[in-house]
Amino acid sequence: MTTPTKFLLQESQMPKYWYNIAADLPKAPPPVLHPGTLQPVGPDDLAPLFPMELILQEVSTEREIEIPEPVREIYRLWRPSPLFRAHRLEKALGTPAKIFYKYEGVSPAGSHKPNTAVPQAFYNAQAGTKRLTTETGAGQWGTSLSFAGQLFGLEVLVFQVRVSYDQKPYRRAVMETYGARCLASPSMETEYGRRVLAQRPDHPGSLGIAISEAVELAAQREDTKYALGSVLNHVLLHQTVIGLEAMEQLQMADAWPDVIVGATGGGSNFAGIAFPFIRHGLRGGAKPRIVAVEPAACPSLTRGKYAYDFGDTAHLTPLTKMHTLGSTFTPPPFHAGGLRYHGMAPLVSHLKELGLIEAVAYTQTQCFEAGVLFARSEGIVPAPEANHAVKGAIEEALRCKREGRSETILFNLCGHGHFDMAAYQKYFAGELSDETYDERELAMALSGLPSVPEPA
Ligand SMILES: Cc1ncc(COP(=O)(O)O)c(C=O)c1O
Repeated sequence: MTTPTKFLLQESQMPKYWYNIAADLPKAPPPVLHPGTLQPVGPDDLAPLFPMELILQEVSTEREIEIPEPVREIYRLWRPSPLFRAHRLEKALGTPAKIFYKYEGVSPAGSHKPNTAVPQAFYNAQAGTKRLTTETGAGQWGTSLSFAGQLFGLEVLVFQVRVSYDQKPYRRAVMETYGARCLASPSMETEYGRRVLAQRPDHPGSLGIAISEAVELAAQREDTKYALGSVLNHVLLHQTVIGLEAMEQLQMADAWPDVIVGATGGGSNFAGIAFPFIRHGLRGGAKPRIVAVEPAACPSLTRGKYAYDFGDTAHLTPLTKMHTLGSTFTPPPFHAGGLRYHGMAPLVSHLKELGLIEAVAYTQTQCFEAGVLFARSEGIVPAPEANHAVKGAIEEALRCKREGRSETILFNLCGHGHFDMAAYQKYFAGELSDETYDERELAMALSGLPSVPEPA
Protein backbone atom coordinates (compact mmCIF):
# COMPACT_ATOMS: atom_id res chain seq x y z
CA MET A 1 0.00 0.00 0.00
CA THR A 2 1.33 3.46 -0.83
CA THR A 3 1.64 6.01 1.97
CA PRO A 4 -0.94 8.80 1.61
CA THR A 5 0.09 12.26 0.44
CA LYS A 6 -2.87 14.31 1.69
CA PHE A 7 -4.48 14.24 5.12
CA LEU A 8 -7.89 15.89 5.01
CA LEU A 9 -10.35 16.60 7.80
CA GLN A 10 -14.11 16.93 7.42
CA GLU A 11 -15.72 20.33 8.04
CA SER A 12 -17.28 18.83 11.16
CA GLN A 13 -13.74 18.18 12.49
CA MET A 14 -12.76 21.85 12.36
CA PRO A 15 -11.74 23.11 15.83
CA LYS A 16 -14.53 24.65 17.91
CA TYR A 17 -12.07 26.48 20.19
CA TRP A 18 -8.90 28.51 19.77
CA TYR A 19 -6.06 27.55 22.10
CA ASN A 20 -4.68 30.23 24.43
CA ILE A 21 -1.10 29.47 25.48
CA ALA A 22 -1.27 32.10 28.24
CA ALA A 23 -3.08 29.47 30.33
CA ASP A 24 -0.14 27.06 30.27
CA LEU A 25 2.99 29.21 30.46
CA PRO A 26 5.40 28.35 33.28
CA LYS A 27 5.91 32.11 33.83
CA ALA A 28 3.59 34.97 32.86
CA PRO A 29 4.92 37.32 30.16
CA PRO A 30 5.86 40.87 31.23
CA PRO A 31 2.90 43.30 31.21
CA VAL A 32 2.16 45.75 28.41
CA LEU A 33 2.95 49.27 29.63
CA HIS A 34 1.46 52.70 29.07
CA PRO A 35 4.27 54.80 27.52
CA GLY A 36 3.41 57.86 29.65
CA THR A 37 2.97 56.30 33.08
CA LEU A 38 5.00 53.09 32.50
CA GLN A 39 2.18 51.32 34.36
CA PRO A 40 0.44 48.21 32.95
CA VAL A 41 -2.28 49.16 30.48
CA GLY A 42 -5.88 48.27 31.24
CA PRO A 43 -8.70 47.41 28.85
CA ASP A 44 -9.85 51.06 28.78
CA ASP A 45 -6.47 52.21 27.41
CA LEU A 46 -6.94 49.94 24.39
CA ALA A 47 -10.63 50.72 23.84
CA PRO A 48 -10.11 53.56 21.30
CA LEU A 49 -8.40 51.05 18.98
CA PHE A 50 -10.05 47.65 19.52
CA PRO A 51 -13.51 46.31 20.37
CA MET A 52 -13.83 45.02 23.95
CA GLU A 53 -14.20 41.36 22.96
CA LEU A 54 -10.75 41.41 21.31
CA ILE A 55 -9.25 43.30 24.27
CA LEU A 56 -10.58 40.61 26.60
CA GLN A 57 -9.02 37.93 24.40
CA GLU A 58 -5.76 39.90 24.48
CA VAL A 59 -5.54 39.60 28.27
CA SER A 60 -7.36 36.28 28.72
CA THR A 61 -5.81 33.36 30.58
CA GLU A 62 -8.66 30.98 29.68
CA ARG A 63 -7.18 27.91 28.00
CA GLU A 64 -9.86 27.58 25.32
CA ILE A 65 -11.88 30.35 23.69
CA GLU A 66 -14.91 29.35 21.69
CA ILE A 67 -14.90 30.18 17.98
CA PRO A 68 -18.23 31.96 17.29
CA GLU A 69 -20.49 30.10 14.85
CA PRO A 70 -20.58 32.96 12.26
CA VAL A 71 -16.76 32.78 12.15
CA ARG A 72 -16.78 29.00 11.80
CA GLU A 73 -19.29 29.33 9.00
CA ILE A 74 -16.86 31.53 7.05
CA TYR A 75 -13.85 29.38 8.00
CA ARG A 76 -15.67 26.53 6.20
CA LEU A 77 -14.97 28.28 2.87
CA TRP A 78 -11.40 26.93 3.12
CA ARG A 79 -10.92 25.17 6.46
CA PRO A 80 -9.89 22.59 7.50
CA SER A 81 -6.80 23.21 5.38
CA PRO A 82 -4.87 20.20 4.04
CA LEU A 83 -1.80 18.60 5.54
CA PHE A 84 0.58 17.10 2.97
CA ARG A 85 3.39 14.61 3.23
CA ALA A 86 6.18 16.01 1.04
CA HIS A 87 7.19 12.68 -0.49
CA ARG A 88 8.73 14.28 -3.56
CA LEU A 89 10.74 16.85 -1.63
CA GLU A 90 12.03 14.07 0.65
CA LYS A 91 13.14 12.17 -2.44
CA ALA A 92 14.76 15.24 -4.02
CA LEU A 93 16.76 15.76 -0.81
CA GLY A 94 17.55 12.06 -0.35
CA THR A 95 16.63 12.40 3.31
CA PRO A 96 15.40 9.67 5.64
CA ALA A 97 13.28 12.38 7.38
CA LYS A 98 9.52 12.48 6.94
CA ILE A 99 8.42 15.99 5.96
CA PHE A 100 4.84 17.17 6.49
CA TYR A 101 3.49 20.61 5.66
CA LYS A 102 0.26 22.33 6.57
CA TYR A 103 -0.89 24.43 3.61
CA GLU A 104 -2.60 27.73 4.43
CA GLY A 105 -2.48 29.03 0.85
CA VAL A 106 -5.95 27.53 0.22
CA SER A 107 -7.66 30.53 1.88
CA PRO A 108 -9.29 33.24 -0.29
CA ALA A 109 -6.36 35.62 0.33
CA GLY A 110 -3.78 32.88 -0.23
CA SER A 111 -2.36 32.67 3.30
CA HIS A 112 -3.12 32.14 6.98
CA LYS A 113 -4.15 35.79 7.47
CA PRO A 114 -7.94 35.31 7.04
CA ASN A 115 -7.88 33.04 10.13
CA THR A 116 -7.70 36.21 12.22
CA ALA A 117 -9.16 38.77 9.76
CA VAL A 118 -12.55 37.05 9.92
CA PRO A 119 -12.91 37.02 13.73
CA GLN A 120 -11.50 40.55 13.98
CA ALA A 121 -14.09 41.82 11.50
CA PHE A 122 -16.80 39.81 13.27
CA TYR A 123 -16.11 41.23 16.75
CA ASN A 124 -15.81 44.75 15.32
CA ALA A 125 -19.12 44.49 13.47
CA GLN A 126 -20.74 43.15 16.65
CA ALA A 127 -19.45 46.17 18.58
CA GLY A 128 -20.86 48.63 16.03
CA THR A 129 -17.60 49.57 14.28
CA LYS A 130 -18.19 51.00 10.80
CA ARG A 131 -14.62 51.34 9.49
CA LEU A 132 -11.33 49.49 9.99
CA THR A 133 -7.85 50.80 9.29
CA THR A 134 -4.82 48.60 8.94
CA GLU A 135 -1.32 48.18 7.53
CA THR A 136 -0.06 45.52 5.15
CA GLY A 137 3.46 44.38 4.30
CA ALA A 138 3.12 41.51 1.86
CA GLY A 139 -0.40 42.54 0.86
CA GLN A 140 -1.71 39.27 2.30
CA TRP A 141 -3.07 40.84 5.48
CA GLY A 142 -4.62 43.82 3.66
CA THR A 143 -6.31 41.42 1.25
CA SER A 144 -7.57 39.28 4.14
CA LEU A 145 -9.04 42.19 6.09
CA SER A 146 -10.61 43.61 2.91
CA PHE A 147 -12.29 40.23 2.32
CA ALA A 148 -13.42 39.87 5.95
CA GLY A 149 -14.59 43.49 6.18
CA GLN A 150 -16.73 43.03 3.09
CA LEU A 151 -18.43 39.97 4.61
CA PHE A 152 -19.42 41.96 7.72
CA GLY A 153 -20.31 45.24 5.99
CA LEU A 154 -17.25 47.19 7.23
CA GLU A 155 -15.37 49.84 5.28
CA VAL A 156 -11.64 48.99 5.15
CA LEU A 157 -8.70 51.36 4.61
CA VAL A 158 -5.31 49.69 4.08
CA PHE A 159 -1.88 51.36 4.28
CA GLN A 160 0.38 49.19 2.15
CA VAL A 161 4.12 49.59 2.70
CA ARG A 162 5.48 51.54 -0.29
CA VAL A 163 7.93 48.88 -1.58
CA SER A 164 5.26 46.21 -1.48
CA TYR A 165 2.71 48.55 -3.13
CA ASP A 166 5.18 49.06 -6.00
CA GLN A 167 6.29 45.40 -6.19
CA LYS A 168 2.75 43.94 -6.14
CA PRO A 169 0.15 46.09 -7.94
CA TYR A 170 -2.27 43.16 -8.21
CA ARG A 171 -2.55 42.85 -4.44
CA ARG A 172 -4.06 46.34 -4.43
CA ALA A 173 -6.45 45.28 -7.20
CA VAL A 174 -7.64 42.34 -5.09
CA MET A 175 -8.19 44.61 -2.08
CA GLU A 176 -10.23 46.94 -4.29
CA THR A 177 -12.17 43.96 -5.65
CA TYR A 178 -13.20 43.26 -2.06
CA GLY A 179 -14.31 46.90 -1.78
CA ALA A 180 -11.41 48.31 0.27
CA ARG A 181 -9.29 51.41 -0.28
CA CYS A 182 -5.52 50.91 -0.42
CA LEU A 183 -2.87 53.64 -0.10
CA ALA A 184 0.91 53.46 -0.34
CA SER A 185 2.56 54.19 3.02
CA PRO A 186 4.03 56.65 3.91
CA SER A 187 1.04 58.57 2.55
CA MET A 188 -0.22 62.14 2.47
CA GLU A 189 -3.40 60.96 4.23
CA THR A 190 -2.00 61.20 7.76
CA GLU A 191 0.00 63.75 9.69
CA TYR A 192 2.68 61.17 10.41
CA GLY A 193 2.91 60.06 6.76
CA ARG A 194 3.32 63.69 5.65
CA ARG A 195 6.09 64.17 8.24
CA VAL A 196 8.01 61.09 7.02
CA LEU A 197 7.65 62.12 3.36
CA ALA A 198 8.84 65.65 4.12
CA GLN A 199 12.09 64.17 5.48
CA ARG A 200 12.51 61.52 2.76
CA PRO A 201 10.17 61.77 -0.26
CA ASP A 202 11.30 58.36 -1.63
CA HIS A 203 10.88 56.53 1.69
CA PRO A 204 10.36 52.76 1.01
CA GLY A 205 8.05 52.54 4.00
CA SER A 206 8.01 49.95 6.76
CA LEU A 207 5.38 48.05 8.72
CA GLY A 208 6.15 50.30 11.72
CA ILE A 209 5.28 53.44 9.70
CA ALA A 210 2.16 51.90 8.12
CA ILE A 211 0.94 50.87 11.59
CA SER A 212 1.43 54.46 12.81
CA GLU A 213 -0.67 55.79 9.94
CA ALA A 214 -3.48 53.28 10.51
CA VAL A 215 -3.48 53.88 14.28
CA GLU A 216 -3.49 57.67 13.82
CA LEU A 217 -6.68 57.54 11.77
CA ALA A 218 -8.42 54.97 13.99
CA ALA A 219 -7.79 57.07 17.10
CA GLN A 220 -9.47 60.10 15.47
CA ARG A 221 -12.93 58.66 14.87
CA GLU A 222 -15.44 56.94 17.14
CA ASP A 223 -16.72 54.69 14.35
CA THR A 224 -13.23 53.56 13.29
CA LYS A 225 -11.07 50.88 14.86
CA TYR A 226 -7.67 49.50 14.05
CA ALA A 227 -6.90 45.87 13.14
CA LEU A 228 -3.43 44.31 13.32
CA GLY A 229 -2.50 41.23 11.29
CA SER A 230 0.14 39.82 13.63
CA VAL A 231 2.08 40.32 16.90
CA LEU A 232 -0.84 40.72 19.36
CA ASN A 233 -1.97 37.86 21.62
CA HIS A 234 -5.46 37.69 20.11
CA VAL A 235 -4.04 37.37 16.59
CA LEU A 236 -1.80 34.49 17.65
CA LEU A 237 -4.78 32.92 19.42
CA HIS A 238 -6.89 32.93 16.24
CA GLN A 239 -4.09 31.29 14.28
CA THR A 240 -4.00 28.24 16.57
CA VAL A 241 -6.63 26.59 14.34
CA ILE A 242 -3.62 25.70 12.16
CA GLY A 243 -1.81 23.65 14.80
CA LEU A 244 -5.00 22.17 16.26
CA GLU A 245 -5.96 20.80 12.85
CA ALA A 246 -2.40 19.64 12.15
CA MET A 247 -2.43 17.58 15.36
CA GLU A 248 -5.51 15.68 14.20
CA GLN A 249 -4.06 15.22 10.73
CA LEU A 250 -0.73 13.92 12.02
CA GLN A 251 -2.61 11.38 14.07
CA MET A 252 -4.29 10.23 10.85
CA ALA A 253 -0.78 9.81 9.44
CA ASP A 254 0.29 7.95 12.60
CA ALA A 255 3.05 10.54 13.04
CA TRP A 256 4.21 13.07 15.62
CA PRO A 257 6.71 15.88 14.92
CA ASP A 258 10.26 15.87 16.25
CA VAL A 259 10.76 19.35 14.79
CA ILE A 260 8.29 22.11 13.92
CA VAL A 261 9.36 24.96 11.64
CA GLY A 262 7.64 28.27 10.89
CA ALA A 263 8.52 31.59 9.27
CA THR A 264 8.39 34.59 11.60
CA GLY A 265 7.47 38.15 10.69
CA GLY A 266 5.39 39.23 13.65
CA GLY A 267 5.06 35.61 14.80
CA SER A 268 1.43 34.71 14.09
CA ASN A 269 1.61 31.79 11.64
CA PHE A 270 4.54 30.37 13.60
CA ALA A 271 2.49 30.57 16.81
CA GLY A 272 -0.48 29.09 14.99
CA ILE A 273 1.33 25.91 14.06
CA ALA A 274 3.53 25.66 17.16
CA PHE A 275 1.50 26.68 20.23
CA PRO A 276 -0.82 23.63 20.38
CA PHE A 277 2.25 21.35 20.23
CA ILE A 278 4.07 23.43 22.87
CA ARG A 279 1.03 22.96 25.11
CA HIS A 280 1.33 19.22 24.67
CA GLY A 281 4.99 19.41 25.75
CA LEU A 282 4.28 21.71 28.69
CA ARG A 283 1.69 19.24 29.98
CA GLY A 284 4.09 16.31 30.01
CA GLY A 285 3.80 15.10 26.37
CA ALA A 286 6.57 14.75 23.79
CA LYS A 287 8.44 18.03 23.26
CA PRO A 288 9.30 18.71 19.63
CA ARG A 289 12.06 21.20 18.84
CA ILE A 290 10.41 24.39 17.61
CA VAL A 291 12.35 26.48 15.10
CA ALA A 292 11.45 30.04 14.07
CA VAL A 293 12.97 31.13 10.75
CA GLU A 294 13.46 34.81 10.08
CA PRO A 295 15.09 36.92 7.34
CA ALA A 296 18.76 37.75 7.83
CA ALA A 297 17.93 41.32 6.73
CA CYS A 298 15.40 41.84 9.55
CA PRO A 299 16.48 39.46 12.30
CA SER A 300 14.53 40.52 15.39
CA LEU A 301 14.75 37.17 17.22
CA THR A 302 18.39 36.41 16.45
CA ARG A 303 19.90 39.93 16.50
CA GLY A 304 17.33 42.07 18.29
CA LYS A 305 17.31 43.08 21.93
CA TYR A 306 14.69 41.70 24.35
CA ALA A 307 13.39 45.02 25.62
CA TYR A 308 10.34 47.22 25.97
CA ASP A 309 9.62 48.99 22.69
CA PHE A 310 6.88 50.62 20.67
CA GLY A 311 5.01 48.56 18.07
CA ASP A 312 5.08 51.43 15.57
CA THR A 313 7.44 54.11 14.38
CA ALA A 314 5.48 57.19 15.49
CA HIS A 315 5.20 55.82 19.04
CA LEU A 316 1.43 55.79 19.22
CA THR A 317 1.18 52.25 20.63
CA PRO A 318 1.75 50.95 24.17
CA LEU A 319 5.14 49.47 25.12
CA THR A 320 5.57 45.72 24.89
CA LYS A 321 8.54 43.60 25.89
CA MET A 322 9.73 41.82 22.79
CA HIS A 323 12.75 41.07 20.63
CA THR A 324 13.19 44.29 18.70
CA LEU A 325 15.55 45.96 16.27
CA GLY A 326 14.25 49.34 17.46
CA SER A 327 11.02 50.96 16.30
CA THR A 328 12.83 53.47 14.06
CA PHE A 329 14.72 50.71 12.19
CA THR A 330 13.82 50.61 8.49
CA PRO A 331 14.51 47.12 7.10
CA PRO A 332 16.04 46.97 3.61
CA PRO A 333 13.48 46.43 0.82
CA PHE A 334 13.83 42.66 0.41
CA HIS A 335 10.95 40.68 -1.08
CA ALA A 336 9.40 38.99 1.95
CA GLY A 337 7.44 42.15 2.82
CA GLY A 338 5.47 40.36 5.53
CA LEU A 339 8.69 39.77 7.45
CA ARG A 340 9.90 43.40 7.40
CA TYR A 341 8.88 44.21 10.97
CA HIS A 342 11.20 45.56 13.66
CA GLY A 343 9.67 43.54 16.49
CA MET A 344 8.34 40.12 17.38
CA ALA A 345 5.16 38.97 19.07
CA PRO A 346 5.61 39.35 22.85
CA LEU A 347 4.41 35.76 23.38
CA VAL A 348 6.90 34.35 20.87
CA SER A 349 9.67 36.52 22.40
CA HIS A 350 8.75 35.27 25.87
CA LEU A 351 8.93 31.63 24.71
CA LYS A 352 12.36 32.31 23.25
CA GLU A 353 13.48 33.76 26.60
CA LEU A 354 12.10 30.67 28.37
CA GLY A 355 14.16 28.46 26.04
CA LEU A 356 11.06 26.81 24.58
CA ILE A 357 11.82 27.79 20.98
CA GLU A 358 14.92 28.30 18.80
CA ALA A 359 15.50 30.86 16.04
CA VAL A 360 17.62 30.95 12.86
CA ALA A 361 18.00 33.53 10.08
CA TYR A 362 18.55 33.01 6.34
CA THR A 363 19.17 35.40 3.44
CA GLN A 364 16.58 35.95 0.73
CA THR A 365 18.49 34.11 -2.01
CA GLN A 366 18.91 31.08 0.27
CA CYS A 367 15.15 31.15 0.83
CA PHE A 368 14.24 31.58 -2.86
CA GLU A 369 16.53 28.67 -3.74
CA ALA A 370 14.64 26.53 -1.22
CA GLY A 371 11.28 27.76 -2.53
CA VAL A 372 12.17 26.87 -6.12
CA LEU A 373 13.25 23.36 -5.11
CA PHE A 374 9.97 23.02 -3.22
CA ALA A 375 7.90 24.24 -6.21
CA ARG A 376 9.72 21.85 -8.54
CA SER A 377 9.08 18.89 -6.22
CA GLU A 378 5.68 19.61 -4.66
CA GLY A 379 4.11 21.91 -7.25
CA ILE A 380 3.12 24.81 -4.99
CA VAL A 381 4.96 28.12 -5.49
CA PRO A 382 5.42 29.47 -1.95
CA ALA A 383 5.16 33.11 -0.91
CA PRO A 384 8.59 34.64 -0.24
CA GLU A 385 7.69 34.67 3.48
CA ALA A 386 6.79 30.96 3.36
CA ASN A 387 10.14 30.24 1.66
CA HIS A 388 11.76 30.90 5.02
CA ALA A 389 9.86 27.97 6.54
CA VAL A 390 10.69 25.82 3.50
CA LYS A 391 14.38 26.67 3.91
CA GLY A 392 14.24 25.85 7.63
CA ALA A 393 12.55 22.51 6.96
CA ILE A 394 15.04 21.61 4.22
CA GLU A 395 17.96 22.38 6.54
CA GLU A 396 16.45 20.09 9.19
CA ALA A 397 15.91 17.34 6.58
CA LEU A 398 19.53 17.63 5.41
CA ARG A 399 20.72 17.42 9.02
CA CYS A 400 18.68 14.20 9.35
CA LYS A 401 20.40 12.91 6.21
CA ARG A 402 23.87 13.70 7.62
CA GLU A 403 23.00 12.08 10.94
CA GLY A 404 21.12 9.15 9.39
CA ARG A 405 18.00 9.95 11.43
CA SER A 406 14.44 9.45 10.30
CA GLU A 407 12.87 12.36 12.20
CA THR A 408 9.44 13.80 11.48
CA ILE A 409 9.47 17.45 10.41
CA LEU A 410 6.33 19.57 10.31
CA PHE A 411 6.31 23.03 8.78
CA ASN A 412 3.74 25.64 7.99
CA LEU A 413 3.49 26.61 4.33
CA CYS A 414 1.80 29.86 5.29
CA GLY A 415 0.93 31.14 1.81
CA HIS A 416 1.32 30.87 -1.94
CA GLY A 417 3.39 33.25 -4.03
CA HIS A 418 1.08 33.86 -6.98
CA PHE A 419 1.33 37.63 -6.50
CA ASP A 420 5.07 37.44 -5.97
CA MET A 421 6.18 36.24 -9.37
CA ALA A 422 8.10 39.47 -10.10
CA ALA A 423 10.37 38.51 -7.21
CA TYR A 424 10.84 35.02 -8.63
CA GLN A 425 11.62 36.55 -12.05
CA LYS A 426 14.30 38.71 -10.44
CA TYR A 427 15.69 35.66 -8.69
CA PHE A 428 15.93 33.75 -12.00
CA ALA A 429 17.55 36.78 -13.68
CA GLY A 430 20.18 36.84 -10.93
CA GLU A 431 18.99 40.30 -9.89
CA LEU A 432 18.07 39.42 -6.35
CA SER A 433 20.78 40.45 -3.94
CA ASP A 434 21.05 39.58 -0.28
CA GLU A 435 20.02 42.91 1.15
CA THR A 436 21.78 43.66 4.38
CA TYR A 437 20.74 46.18 6.94
CA ASP A 438 22.92 49.09 7.89
CA GLU A 439 24.70 48.16 11.18
CA ARG A 440 24.94 51.84 12.12
CA GLU A 441 21.21 52.31 11.62
CA LEU A 442 20.52 49.25 13.75
CA ALA A 443 22.81 50.52 16.50
CA MET A 444 21.09 53.91 16.36
CA ALA A 445 17.60 52.36 16.46
CA LEU A 446 18.59 50.19 19.42
CA SER A 447 20.14 53.13 21.26
CA GLY A 448 16.80 54.91 20.97
CA LEU A 449 14.86 52.20 22.83
CA PRO A 450 12.69 53.68 25.58
CA SER A 451 14.19 53.35 29.00
CA VAL A 452 11.96 51.29 31.23
CA PRO A 453 13.18 50.42 34.75
CA GLU A 454 13.30 46.68 35.50
CA PRO A 455 10.72 45.71 38.13
CA ALA A 456 12.22 45.37 41.64
C1 LIG B 1 2.47 34.68 3.60
C2 LIG B 1 2.91 35.34 4.86
N1 LIG B 1 3.63 34.64 5.73
C3 LIG B 1 4.08 35.18 6.88
C4 LIG B 1 3.83 36.50 7.19
C5 LIG B 1 4.39 37.06 8.45
O1 LIG B 1 3.47 37.27 9.46
P1 LIG B 1 3.39 36.34 10.71
O2 LIG B 1 4.77 36.18 11.27
O3 LIG B 1 2.51 37.09 11.65
O4 LIG B 1 2.80 35.05 10.31
C6 LIG B 1 3.06 37.27 6.32
C7 LIG B 1 2.74 38.65 6.67
O5 LIG B 1 2.26 39.43 5.93
C8 LIG B 1 2.60 36.69 5.13
O6 LIG B 1 1.88 37.39 4.26
